[in-house]
Amino acid sequence: MSVVIKPMHRKRVAILISGRGSNMAALIAAAADPAFPAEIACVVSNRPDAAGLAHAQAAGIETCVIDHKAFGRDREAFERALAAELAARDIDIVCLAGFMRLFTPWFVSHWEGRMINIHPALLPAFKGLDTHERALAAGVKLHGATVHFVVPEMDSGPIIVQAAIPVHDEDTPATLAARVLAAEHCIYPQALRWLAEGRLAVVDGRCKIAGAKRSAEKLTSPSS
Ligand code: GAR
Repeated sequence: MSVVIKPMHRKRVAILISGRGSNMAALIAAAADPAFPAEIACVVSNRPDAAGLAHAQAAGIETCVIDHKAFGRDREAFERALAAELAARDIDIVCLAGFMRLFTPWFVSHWEGRMINIHPALLPAFKGLDTHERALAAGVKLHGATVHFVVPEMDSGPIIVQAAIPVHDEDTPATLAARVLAAEHCIYPQALRWLAEGRLAVVDGRCKIAGAKRSAEKLTSPSS
């Protein structure tokens, strides 16, 4: 007797990049496992010179460049071109991975609950650029990274997962960035896994993860 096992439907993911693409590479590596609930269907860059494009191609992932400069100031025209590429590939989920363009509310609302971003800070602290420099200047003792759903406001939206790392006295922006980046590469695949498994729900602006184990809650006082 032969049994036909139908392949599980893996969510089809587009990763949007603008540069190096190390988070993209982490997602591609995670999705290389056939048991991962999502497959990387394509990588889209708004910059023809993005270094990540070569890595994606070497990994056998389809790439596509939509140069935002070709659209001048017309953001929606750029987004319509992007939307057409995503629709042509039957994309379920969009992952922004160092994609340095803001979207209009039109594009964001189309992808509501299906588009996530990674940011190199513990949001809502340090939105925007130069997060590591600003974290050091502020003297914070903990810094880190956040994966969140995308909403029209920059670096905002329900938080899916965060990684915190201690800031060392001798840290420079570069050393801090390197440790944060390593944490980013851990939490982004985790967040995509949860989203693709349908385990995330946003309730009153807070993202809940079905079946997530609680981390240790007990705090010990210095005297105990
Ligand atoms: C990452 O640190 C990512 O968190 C950040 O850009 C870098 C891209 O690196 N994104 C943002 O600042 C978005 N607000 P990568 O291209 O090597 O993934």
